[in-house]
Amino acid sequence: MDQIIVTGNGPLSGDIAIAGAKNACLTLMPATLLSDAPLTLTNAPRLSDIKTMTELLRSLGAEVTSLQDGKVLAMSSHALNGARADYDIVRKMRASILVLGPLLARLGQAVVSLPGGCAIGARPVDLHLKALEVMGAELELVDGYVHARAPGGLKGGVVEFPFASVGATENALMAATLARGTTVLKGAAREPEIVDLAVCLRRMGARIEGEGTDTLTIEGVERLDGATHPVVTDRIELGTYMLAPAICGGEVELVGGRMELVAAFAAKLDEAGVSVTRTDRGLRVRRRGDHIRAVNVTTEPFPGFPTDLQAQMMALLCTAEGVSVLEENIFENRFMHAPELLRMGARIDVQGGTARVTGVPRLKGAPVMATDLRASVSLILAGLAAEGVTRVSRVYHLDRGYENVVEKLAGVGAQIERIKAQ
Ligand code: UD1
Repeated sequence: MDQIIVTGNGPLSGDIAIAGAKNACLTLMPATLLSDAPLTLTNAPRLSDIKTMTELLRSLGAEVTSLQDGKVLAMSSHALNGARADYDIVRKMRASILVLGPLLARLGQAVVSLPGGCAIGARPVDLHLKALEVMGAELELVDGYVHARAPGGLKGGVVEFPFASVGATENALMAATLARGTTVLKGAAREPEIVDLAVCLRRMGARIEGEGTDTLTIEGVERLDGATHPVVTDRIELGTYMLAPAICGGEVELVGGRMELVAAFAAKLDEAGVSVTRTDRGLRVRRRGDHIRAVNVTTEPFPGFPTDLQAQMMALLCTAEGVSVLEENIFENRFMHAPELLRMGARIDVQGGTARVTGVPRLKGAPVMATDLRASVSLILAGLAAEGVTRVSRVYHLDRGYENVVEKLAGVGAQIERIKAQ
């Protein structure tokens, strides 16, 4: 298996181009199932998760053509050949469940494997299913598959989510575009990826109001059309690379970065001693002094501090002056990077959903193992400023969500290389 080798070094400088958002693309792609006309996505990221979604859509009969080296995805679902999403593909990626709403809305039936647990927690899909039931779906669980039917089509209804779920909001939103009458989604998630989905669906002819707030109102239409849509900037990739100069010192410009995507995160960086300023092309990040100050972080749904940046932020706080407390409120098992950071000399005490990080002057390089997508990049960030060499194995996690991570970091002066498996 490939490994990434990072050698700690000094300040970084230069610029990094931020790709389109993985999580937006993974919900925009299933939107093709809603229409018999072509949907083209531009600014798509080149990631293994996108390949998995491509494989899933093709298994349903959709055409997906990757153009311009994968940056453009031309899709068409004019001839779907089935509505069964197989366990073999779904188990690779939870976001596969996002085909359920569109299939049901367009074909009146769907059979989708339940995704099962994953490394960062139980992550059930009950909210997805309840929302579809409110819209008239009849659901049955058989051999690990959800069998969904909507005889006579889905109909509008009022869905009240007990708490915000990104995926459940996306599934319900897509389904509601073709449901008869009005659907109201209350307690909906407000993430920029949902706003991006709403914008794309509207381009396809959907009637949606309220995206970016906790109440979405959707007026069902008979048919959706084709569209061309640019995928929104990846705020998690953006935040990850904002941490590189914060950890190593120096100054880096993140091309394509937008403050409104990372406002809560940028405010925390500022508190820790890192300046984030707007430029013509994106955001510029600069560590103000030699030291980072300890800060407390609580993960929350958007617009709060994102859970997907918690592991990376912990890497920064390992060498801050003082004690930082990180509270994880979204997923119950999301500190798997902590034992690996301990191997690098960090002082971290995890109790349930809270991690207390006592800053040490410098981390030391070590062989470490990636356990999930965000955990793996936090180990690379930690290695950037550690003394000596850090070897990160199981980097296939990284390929799910970061394109060209080695090239991007090396481009601003980091000493990093990927060693191919023999
Ligand atoms: C999405 C993102 C993921 C991010 C997460 C939270 C994608 C492809 N993934 O995941 O990167 O970390 O949002 O920002 O966009 N829950 C239930 N029942 C449900 C659905 C969710 O209990 O039916 C729980 C989850 O276990 C979790 C919380 O709700 O504790 C939030 O999960 P959710 O927002 O749904 O995350 P995902 O859409 O899976």
